[in-house]
Amino acid sequence: MGILEDKDNARLFYRYFSRVYDTINPYIWDDRMRNQALEWFDADPDDRVLDVGAGTGFATEGLLNHVDEVYALDQSRGQFEQAFRKFGKHGKVHFHMGDAERLPFKDDTFDKLWSSGSIEYWPDPVAALREFRRVTKPGGTVLVVGPDYPKLTPFQKLADAIMLFYDAEEAEAMFRDAGFEEMRHFIQQRHRGTPRAITTVATVPAADATAAAETTAATEEPAASDD
Ligand SMILES: C[S@@+](CC[C@H](N)C(=O)[O-])C[C@H]1O[C@@H](n2cnc3c(N)ncnc32)[C@H](O)[C@@H]1O
Repeated sequence: MGILEDKDNARLFYRYFSRVYDTINPYIWDDRMRNQALEWFDADPDDRVLDVGAGTGFATEGLLNHVDEVYALDQSRGQFEQAFRKFGKHGKVHFHMGDAERLPFKDDTFDKLWSSGSIEYWPDPVAALREFRRVTKPGGTVLVVGPDYPKLTPFQKLADAIMLFYDAEEAEAMFRDAGFEEMRHFIQQRHRGTPRAITTVATVPAADATAAAETTAATEEPAASDD
């Protein structure tokens, strides 16, 4: 597990990094990539949308071009201080301090859920994805952007030491483990040589389909053994 896949370490990191986040971020995850992901997200103005790991509000700002208001959640006070400057504390953005793995919202609260650049810090991403399925209505969209796994071994070793990097196969496994069945994965890159992002766009299954899948998994007999 990478050094930043620890909530205290990530919080400490963002206490300082928040001051330069908006200057550095566009070299990795820029407007064009965000706007492309917003097209896949396909939100309507009156959709109730949650932005998990909203940080300084780079994606929140893009979301507000499509929806009337956004619920933003983050575990870093420093990141939110930057966001307050952009949106005010009590405007179109409803701020919630909290943890992606234990969302402070009731079941089926949101029509859509967005999370960009945050999954790589969560110690238990599948637990967070289950929470996303819980708080988003059946038929709703969950979109998660994370860092794509590097192709070269030296970069893989460095990446693994820092945080979660994953490919489409791993994304598929994590989302399926969390109860999602329908999803698509996209790779984005600012330009050649810059880090790639992997974006998964998933549909929340109907509640009865999820319950049936979980019951089947829980009641499946272990395979018979000869010894
Ligand atoms: C790279 S920033 C992404 C900000 C924004 N979503 C964007 O697209 O630019 C990652 C954010 O995830 C937040 N974060 C990390 N772990 C978290 C957790 N367990 N729960 C909530 N937020 C978390 C960090 O505090 C940080 O603000």
